[in-house]
Amino acid sequence: MAYYSIQGIQLTELAKQFGTPLYVYNADKIREKISVLKGSFSNIPLKIKYACKANTNLSILRLMRSQGVEIDVVSPQELELALLAGYEGSQVTFTPSGVDFSEIEFAVSKGAIVNLDNLSVLEKFGKAYGNTIGCLIRVKPHVFGGGNEKIMTAHPESKFGISIHQKAEILQLVQQYDIKIIGLHQHTGSDIKDGQTFIDAASAVFDLAKDFKDLEIIDLGGGFKVPYAPNDPGINMQEVGAAMAQAFQEFCEQYGKQLTLWVEPGKFLVSESGTFLTQATVVKRDPVKTFVGINSGLNHLIRPMMYGSYHYIFNASNDNDAQQEDYRVVGNICETDTFSFDFNGKQNERSLNKVQEGDIIAMANAGAYGFTMASHYNSRFLPAEVLVDGGEAKLIRKRETLEDLLRNQL
Ligand code: LLP
Repeated sequence: MAYYSIQGIQLTELAKQFGTPLYVYNADKIREKISVLKGSFSNIPLKIKYACKANTNLSILRLMRSQGVEIDVVSPQELELALLAGYEGSQVTFTPSGVDFSEIEFAVSKGAIVNLDNLSVLEKFGKAYGNTIGCLIRVKPHVFGGGNEKIMTAHPESKFGISIHQKAEILQLVQQYDIKIIGLHQHTGSDIKDGQTFIDAASAVFDLAKDFKDLEIIDLGGGFKVPYAPNDPGINMQEVGAAMAQAFQEFCEQYGKQLTLWVEPGKFLVSESGTFLTQATVVKRDPVKTFVGINSGLNHLIRPMMYGSYHYIFNASNDNDAQQEDYRVVGNICETDTFSFDFNGKQNERSLNKVQEGDIIAMANAGAYGFTMASHYNSRFLPAEVLVDGGEAKLIRKRETLEDLLRNQL
């Protein structure tokens, strides 16, 4: 999995040209993943709604748009970014969680399709719009799925969606206000590779759907797992896609109408496209462990610290596999910010090709929830971002300066 170049450009060259820490994205990888996804659901009406919280750089959004991928947003700001990237309001789904009704009104005013996740907002929507504007309802199917507890969103105790057990309340509101429900939605969680989990969640939605007469859409969310290391299995997209498509078609036959299936992946489309480039600032030979300290930290890539996530790490400055050492790879933030978690979610060491101070230390799977979850903790600047496309590397977000930190401070 260690790769030393992207589209023929050496990672070390990119680090030299643009500096570190640097997020680098490979446009070809994104196109490839879109095409795998489309191919996995062939023969049914499908819309891909990219869950852009994974990566909202405008250049990535434009790339998605150019590939016929529509978009799912979760905040008014993501909605604005989608419109700036050239999306029509009608291509945008707004799937917020527990927001003030003013955000729903804003999304409607921009022509976005809204996805309602609680009974109180459904009632407000009914009062405000009656049957004049179609909407989706996000349901919670009471299904367990997801790579870790924090990214499971459809189990009974999850805050997301309206419980499937509240069908009577939903139907009562829909009838009372004559609400135009055009679709039902669910999202089970993130990093799911087991096809049965998707089928279980889909079955719960199909069952509920029988009570809604004017559906056009079933949205089964995202969550398709990507591989995080050479031997780590990702989802078998073709197999899972075929099973989901078949279940969907069987449902449509029973329902008596051909609907459109929506899926809204984030990670599947962008995770593997991204590499995070940092520089080894210190090799610290402690009596107990050898640390590699890098010029970044949890402020730039929080996934290991937040979820115990595994990111494949390699020394992009040294391709000599014959000389490896075990290192604990740590950040420069005044917190314990270890990057080298193992697959059990524990801090650990990694075998890297021998590291010298100044080497470029790269982390894979940095295209999703990397930059978008970065912060200014310790008042350090956010990283720059580069997109490699057509064999050329283009800066798509400048590195910050002190002015960026001072903006808005009085
Ligand atoms: N749809 C909805 C309604 C979602 O809440 C999410 C992700 C997705 C789609 C896309 O899920 P994906 O295909 O990317 O798994 N920050 C965490 C992941 C949080 C996901 C939040 N919702 C991580 O870095 O693992």
